[in-house]
Amino acid sequence: MVRVVRATQVEIDTAVQALRDGELVAFPTETVYGLGANATNPAAVRKIFAAKGRPADHPVIVHLDSPRFLHRWVREVPEAATKLAERFWPGPLTMVMARAANVHDVVTGGQDTVAIRVPSHPMAQQLLTAFGGGIAAPSANRYGRLSPTRAEHVRDELGDSVNTILDGGETQIGLESTIVTFEGSNVRLLRPGAVTAGQIRTVIGELLIGANLESPRVPGSTSSHYAPTTPMTVVPAGEIDAHAASLSEGGRRVAVLAQRLPLKSHKYVTWVNAGRRPEQYGHDLYANLRTLDKAGCTQILVQDVPEGEKWDAIRDRLMRAASSVSESGDAGAMAVLP
Ligand code: TXA
Ligand code: MG
Repeated sequence: MVRVVRATQVEIDTAVQALRDGELVAFPTETVYGLGANATNPAAVRKIFAAKGRPADHPVIVHLDSPRFLHRWVREVPEAATKLAERFWPGPLTMVMARAANVHDVVTGGQDTVAIRVPSHPMAQQLLTAFGGGIAAPSANRYGRLSPTRAEHVRDELGDSVNTILDGGETQIGLESTIVTFEGSNVRLLRPGAVTAGQIRTVIGELLIGANLESPRVPGSTSSHYAPTTPMTVVPAGEIDAHAASLSEGGRRVAVLAQRLPLKSHKYVTWVNAGRRPEQYGHDLYANLRTLDKAGCTQILVQDVPEGEKWDAIRDRLMRAASSVSESGDAGAMAVLP
């Protein structure tokens, strides 16, 4: 069981004061930790980009404690959005909608849309309610790196550039929120997450999948994202042992993220068994990749995950984190991999 802790009143007061002073506050959500700033203060939001090393045209999500002040941020709330909010908020769903006139460009990346989420984590709720406004927050990692799922990951990633970190323990879900956008009466999935396409369809009927040319840009969805520094390859499930054995033959250290134990142990292989349950696998994914990234290996091999909707968000993040994907075939061919 993941322990969910609440913040003390002193911690919340300190964090709210920091936000009012235009400072950054890192806080837990049920997905990953966010790096927050007062969304109505452009200078404060710019500090997020500086701390992350993130390009200025990347929009950030505005977090609210409930939909009650949605109209301050969104020009027109589509009918489908109202239905999705009723079903999934508070929770791991982000909705990209037409922005209200006074929403700052630094929040939207200059686009005509704004992304809104109402997180369910008790500490995020405490903070948002006490602050009383919108908190702009991307994941609290350096640009392009793995999202943090524990407070110490935030410290590792951002060090001194954020003074206030609310520690809510491990995040429950471990993968970033599902993102949808609206095109007329259609709804389009831009990023898979814990709220699945099937769950969304039960509420609104049809759902389009994946960005198209007219979709709002989702810069975090470019490839080479959410990535460890060690080169990472996704390997067909049945070939993981053979690949690990052949790569480590000459004494090269290899890290493996698999869904079972190794068939036999290899001297130079660090093997993590992440299990076969998608909820647990997703919860642990970024922490596991951080561990393997620090294991001093020349290569991370990831056993490809099963088909099926419950694995969609995990497969999506693995493909973005991977520097290459190995085709099924002769394990010996691995020798030519980076
Ligand atoms: O679970 C989450 O969503 C976490 C927690 C902290 O809420 N946040 C998160 O933020 O993952 P970030 O910035 O790492 O990813 C948000 C994604 C980015 O790919 C960004 O480009 C996209 O949402 N996004 C934000 N505003 C947008 C907009 N107006 N139009 C299109 N995409 C937008
Ligand atoms: Mg991110």
